[in-house]
Amino acid sequence: MNAGSPELTVVVPTRNERDNITPLLARLRGALGGIRWEVIFVDDDSPDRTAEVVRELGVQDVRVRLIERLGERGLASACVAGVAASAAPQVAVMDADLQHDVRLLPQMLRRLQAGGLDVVVASRYVAGGSLRGLPPRRARLSRLAVHLARAFPRVRLADPMSGFFAIRRAAFDAALPRLSQLGFKILLDLLLSAPRPLRCVEIPYQLAQRHHGASKLDTPTLLQFAVLLTEKLAGRFIPLSLVLFVCVGGSGLLVHVAALYVLVSAGAVFATAQSGAVLAAMTSNFLLNNLVTYRDLRLRGWRWLRGLVSFYAVCCVGAVANVSLASLVYRATPRWWLAGLSGAALGAAWNYLASRGLTWQSWPRAARGRRPQASARPTRR
Ligand code: GDD
Ligand code: MN
Repeated sequence: MNAGSPELTVVVPTRNERDNITPLLARLRGALGGIRWEVIFVDDDSPDRTAEVVRELGVQDVRVRLIERLGERGLASACVAGVAASAAPQVAVMDADLQHDVRLLPQMLRRLQAGGLDVVVASRYVAGGSLRGLPPRRARLSRLAVHLARAFPRVRLADPMSGFFAIRRAAFDAALPRLSQLGFKILLDLLLSAPRPLRCVEIPYQLAQRHHGASKLDTPTLLQFAVLLTEKLAGRFIPLSLVLFVCVGGSGLLVHVAALYVLVSAGAVFATAQSGAVLAAMTSNFLLNNLVTYRDLRLRGWRWLRGLVSFYAVCCVGAVANVSLASLVYRATPRWWLAGLSGAALGAAWNYLASRGLTWQSWPRAARGRRPQASARPTRR
């Protein structure tokens, strides 16, 4: 290997961490003597101009690199972009806010280099580790999340939620095509996406207090955690988009009933009210699917309008298929619930497949895994 190339890349995702960058860099320099290292900050267009600070530091030190992502957000996907831009055989991921103790890095690197391991996790839940940097509510949430994650047989770690770990690049690459890249839990995502169980070891650390700025863990991030678990649970058998599509369909039923109630109360003729309710439900299903189910293929502008019209068309065909099959089954065996369910299942399956292909133009096969980070802009200094 080239004597000058780094043996360790430290990937640090940042969002509004301006005041933490300089102290973190000082600590890295202090801790990593004798190691060929570099640090890649992956900044998501922070309004506090974190990127500017990193860029200035990069002018003085080539080991400081910056990826600025515009129009993209998320801790996990930022980590992936950082690792993708590294050429080092070992990569560490850590927070920018000085909650993670950089003095563990040399030990983490050496253990990976010694062989036989894929991941070294800095753990808050083994003897000698602690959560003391977290407020009590966050600590309870963290413990709950660990319990949920450990329901997966794959997850044997005491702290699968740690945001501080080092991994062999090859092990990361093997898991990459199946990563969800949702939310904060990149380590858990790796554990659940790797083709073979990762060989892990945990070393204790005490989570420190955040120095400057505030945590970015908010309610949407918690929801993303739930979606990550669902995807990993169901994803092997059912595509996540189908699960979401069915949930959206369920919400459409509520919209339908609510709209029907409003229209009938307003004195509309029943047939008119029912038509209005169908239209309302289809529209709300389209909006939700566009926002949630097919977020990464989101339609806007003219394509949005065309999508809406094609979605109406798909649903009309679905409704005809639904009623036809239901009537057929009902004639064969007069069990109303069986007939109704068969029709609904066919309608839903048609709506899912056809809208996926026609409205969002993504056929099930082609859509496995997310597309590469086209907007990642690595800058070498
Ligand atoms: N690029 C980017 N984009 N970075 C982000 C984003 C984002 O959308 N959201 C957060 N970050 C960065 C923060 O700037 C910080 O450097 C790091 O990711 C962690 O974010 P915090 O907001 O400090 O999270 P936390 O302290 O509540 O939780 C973290 O630490 C826990 C304990 O290790 C996370 O890493 C958790 O996953 C972890 O369990
Ligand atoms: Mn933090």
